[in-house]
Amino acid sequence: MLSDFGYEVGRWDISRFKERDPQDTFTALGLEWSLLPDVWPGSAVATGLFTSWLPFEEADTFLEVGCGSGVTAITAAMHGCSRVCALDISPAAVENSRLNAVRHGVSERITVLNSDLFSELDPSDTFDLIYWNSPFVEAPTSHRYESQLDYAVFDSDYAMHRKFFADASRHMTEGARVFLGFSDTMGNSARMGELAERAGFTGSAYRREVLNLPIDVPGVPVPGGTMDVDYVLYEFQRA
Ligand SMILES: C[S@@+](CC[C@H](N)C(=O)[O-])C[C@H]1O[C@@H](n2cnc3c(N)ncnc32)[C@H](O)[C@@H]1O
Repeated sequence: MLSDFGYEVGRWDISRFKERDPQDTFTALGLEWSLLPDVWPGSAVATGLFTSWLPFEEADTFLEVGCGSGVTAITAAMHGCSRVCALDISPAAVENSRLNAVRHGVSERITVLNSDLFSELDPSDTFDLIYWNSPFVEAPTSHRYESQLDYAVFDSDYAMHRKFFADASRHMTEGARVFLGFSDTMGNSARMGELAERAGFTGSAYRREVLNLPIDVPGVPVPGGTMDVDYVLYEFQRA
């Protein structure tokens, strides 16, 4: 069932982001990164957790869907993946990832494409590890996307999650692993699991962490002002 809580927290998160003073850099995983307007910052808790959990050393080729500012894809290249491809539906995110690839000296090993999920990949392009830190907040079909940033948080009717699972297998090498960065607290894991299963995947939680975070969403009572929020990296394989 669509989580009203997740939807309200997502809206609050975006409004907080828009109210903040503009930043042109941030720190994540001990490095400094460039940040362009309207791009989800890789200093987010989820980005750091998922990036530090992914088994880059077990993969030669890495595909990131929804690269944002490029932290995960660039970390994959720095951890030895010989070929990395990073995709994002947001042109600002693509430009931001390219800037950060140059900043960290790995631009020759990364291809960054403006792509709606896998649409701009060559049909024969396959990868050992495919990953998406997804916009896991399920939004109602009536949701209006107001900026590129909305694509970082919301997926209306989980249409993009459905397409992600439906199309991912075309780009997997034999034995490839697919990872999805998600939150059971804010997303709809039952529906996400059904979509994966319908597309022929079996999955389970690879790693999970629960953090107690300050939540101050108008109209949403949170006793004590903090709440446990989980971040889960799911792993999927072809059934
Ligand atoms: C939660 S953000 C994660 C950003 C970055 N990977 C990180 O961890 O900081 C989700 C990203 O997915 C991108 N995205 C959403 N829908 C997409 C689609 N259909 N195709 C490609 N990218 C998409 C968003 O623009 C956003 O950059």
